[in-house]
This record gives sequence, C-alpha cells and structure tokens, in this order.
Amino acid sequence: MREIFEIRDADGAGRIGELTVPRAGVTVETPALLPVINPHLRTVEPATLESAFGAEILITNGYILYKSKEFRERALSEGLAKLYDFSGAIMTDSGSFQLSEYGEITVTNAEILEFQRDIGSHIGTPIDIPTPPGVSHERAESELETTKARLDAAESVDVGEMLVNAPIQGSTYPDLRESAASHAYETSLDVFPVGAVVPLMNGYRYAEMVDVVRAAKRGLGADAPVHLFGAGHPMMFALAVAAGCDLFDSAAYALYARDGRYLTVAGTDHLDDLDYFPCSCPVCAERTPETLRSLPAARREKLLARHNLHVSYRELRTVKQAVREGNLFELLERRARNHPAMVDGYRALLDDSAALERVDPVSKGSFFYLSTDSARRPEVRRHHDRLGRLSVDGDRVLLSAGDDNSRFDETWRLNPPFGPVPPALSDSYPLTIERPERLDRGGYEAAAAGVARLAEANPDTEFTVAHWGWPESAIDRLPDGVDVLSLGADSQHPDE
Ligand code: GUN
Ligand code: ZN
Repeated sequence: MREIFEIRDADGAGRIGELTVPRAGVTVETPALLPVINPHLRTVEPATLESAFGAEILITNGYILYKSKEFRERALSEGLAKLYDFSGAIMTDSGSFQLSEYGEITVTNAEILEFQRDIGSHIGTPIDIPTPPGVSHERAESELETTKARLDAAESVDVGEMLVNAPIQGSTYPDLRESAASHAYETSLDVFPVGAVVPLMNGYRYAEMVDVVRAAKRGLGADAPVHLFGAGHPMMFALAVAAGCDLFDSAAYALYARDGRYLTVAGTDHLDDLDYFPCSCPVCAERTPETLRSLPAARREKLLARHNLHVSYRELRTVKQAVREGNLFELLERRARNHPAMVDGYRALLDDSAALERVDPVSKGSFFYLSTDSARRPEVRRHHDRLGRLSVDGDRVLLSAGDDNSRFDETWRLNPPFGPVPPALSDSYPLTIERPERLDRGGYEAAAAGVARLAEANPDTEFTVAHWGWPESAIDRLPDGVDVLSLGADSQHPDE
C-alpha cells in the first residue's frame, strides 16, 4: 500500500486526491496542473504562479539545468526552491524528451537522477524512452524493455526523500501499456506518468489518448497517482481526469503564447482572429484583442501566457467541482460537444464503461440524460447488470409508465435509458434521472436492452411492456416473449 496518495472524492475514474511530497514538506491537491518552467525564459515567474494562480506544484527540466552554463552551479548550490523562489512542490524531468527529439543526450540514468536529487528536486524522473505512436509492435516492445530496465535501475539509486516518477511507455499498443504499468507499479517508484502522448494530443487523437490511458490504468492500483506527460491543453482536462489522470504538465500556456495562440476550453484561437475576448480573466477583462495586439511582442506574450494559465486553472477547478458534485460526465458531455475529436475521446471512454462502473460511486447528484452517449454511461451499465441478476416475484409483470395494473401481479416503471425499475429503487440514484421530453432513440433502445436483461434472468415470468410511443428501433430490441402494449400515439418521434 502506497502512503503518498489519498483519494478524497471520485466520479467515473476521475478523482480528487491529495499527493504528499515529503521532500517539499507539502501536499498537493489533485487533479493538479504543473506549469513547465524553462529556466532561461521564465515566461511567468514561479512566484507569480504561486501568488496569482495558486500553483502548488511546477515542473522544470533537470537535463536543461544539467547542461546550462548559466544555471547548473546555482541550481546545485542554492537548490531549485530558492533558484525559482517557489515554496510548493517541484518536479523535474530527465531529458527523455530531448532524447526523443534530438536522438541523444549526454548523461546516464543514474547521473541524471543524482543530479535531480542534488538540485533539490522533490519528484525526479529516470530516462525513459518516449516511443511515438505508429511504430511497429516490435520496436515499441524493445524500447519498453529499456524503459523498464531504467526504472529497475532507478530503484537502487540513492535518491533520499525525493519521489521518483515511473514513466509508462508502449506507444499505442494497449497490451504494452498495460504491461508497462504493471511493471512500474511493482517497483518502489512513486508517481506514474503516461508518456509519449504529446503527438496524440497535438494531432487531436483523443480516442487513442483515452485508450492508452485506460490500458495503463488497468496495470495500476487505485492508489497510484497518474500523470499525463505533456498534457497542457484545457480542452482535454475533463476527459483526461474522467479517464483517471491526476497530474498534468503544461508548456502549452507559454509555447502557444509565443505564437499568439489563445487557449479556450473549446480549442485554440489566434489572437489575430479575435474581435472579442470570450473570457473574463484579469488579462481579458481589462483589454480588448485590439489593445493586446498593439503591445510590444514580449509584453503581449507574457499577457497571453497569463490568460492561457487562467483558463487552464479555471478549467481544472471546474473539473474538480464536477467530481465533487458527481457530475463529471455531464461536464464531459458539454466539453465533448466542443470538437468532433472530443466526441471520439468521450466515446472511447464510454467503450470502457465496464471498467469505469467498477470505480464509479453508486450515488451522486442528478443523472442528466443529454444525448445518446448518456445511455452508455457506467450507471446505465450497472443498472442493466443488476436487472440481469434480479428475480421478480409475480408470474405476470407489467413494465409500464401507465397505471392500469389490474391484470398483473406487479408493476415496474420503465425509465429510459435504464429500463425497468424495481419499485423499491425508483427514488434512488441514478433512477432520479432528468431527461429531455424529446428523448432520442438511443434512450429508448437502452431501456429495451434493460427489459431484455430482466426477461433473460426471469424466463418463467410473463412480461408486458406498456409504452408511450417508443420508436420501432426500441420495440425491435425487446425479446420475442415480451408482450407489447401501446398506450398512446407516436408523437415524439418525427424521425421514425
Ligand atoms: N514529456 C512529455 N512526454 C514525455 C515522456 O514520454 N517522457 C518524459 N520523461 N517526459 C515527457
Ligand atoms: Zn482571459
């Protein structure tokens, strides 16, 4: 049992947790954003991150410091906390990313870990191999063997109180990601970054990103803090948290600002294209795009970076509040509607709803049915699984929204997308669902699938479904032995 990470709240695979960072003497609330500090640029000062944005943790590159004529000695003599004037937790990366970009680095695994220890890093990183998407399984597997060996070697480096990252690689192969994660979890290392996802995120390949994260999660225990390496765009925070990520690092706020790019939860805009700011952070509230464009480049870049950080922290707070209230899926459905690639990411997550169901809390606030996708949420799956185990009392059971039950031993309400609801459960979550009156077919079809589960579990009972204008596609899903009684005209399905 790991003692550094405590989970306080959960929704789907998303959670609010507390990460204890012993060497920093602090705890960090997760999900947390780690702004990337480039020691040579410091686009936004670490002290400002702390005072104006509430940053509890940041990340910087140990390898850049190791190679820096300007900062190496200062980092060694003063330590990172003083060099950066930051009192929170500081994570360092190892140069793996430089390795993947430039093909080589001039330091060994043990040397860079000891260097990170010596500059006072609170969470260090060994040199993993970030295998990109789309390579052969053979290459991904062989590079993963090297990464695993580096993690094993890191266990025997004397790092003192410094926590150590155990990066999980394996390209886009779920079997490799899962095996990488199981191996990492068996080491004594502490934090579990899912690596080499930057190309997926830059390419808006959110479904693959979700598949990679979910595969890694299968190999990790629930007490493993999971970092999504290089994930800094606020449009995907809700999705990544719902998939089970706890930490994010963002270079995007600074890199994008340099090119005049303006982050929003819906995507990326260019300052040149904006006539109005859709944001009321201090940067945007006091200026128009026009006035921001007219500023000298360096000033404009810093202000854009600050907006980018404001929108990122704001989204993270929005996500945390959703986890706390139990409406992360509702938030996710809203965010998914911002971009088709996000719809794919959300659907990839729903494909894993059997696994989500095992960790999703049994009771939350209201379930809002918002689209056909809602019918695939883990709560619906859980109800259907329960129907498959229920035995009903009577010989003749009416499943109905109507009230004529004289000919029947028992009446259960039909509640799309869940389907039949045992009377004793009708007032409990998630059956207190709110849904639109103009329900889509997917909702009725899921309800019919629920009827089928119940009928299969009770082959000796006669079921009658009494419905108000269900679409044919739902009626077709009812098992043959179920009687169907139409209670009213079909007024709700102009698309039938
Ligand atoms: N930063 C972004 N991706 C990665 C990765 O895969 N490994 C390391 N060490 N750093 C990263
Ligand atoms: Zn703003």
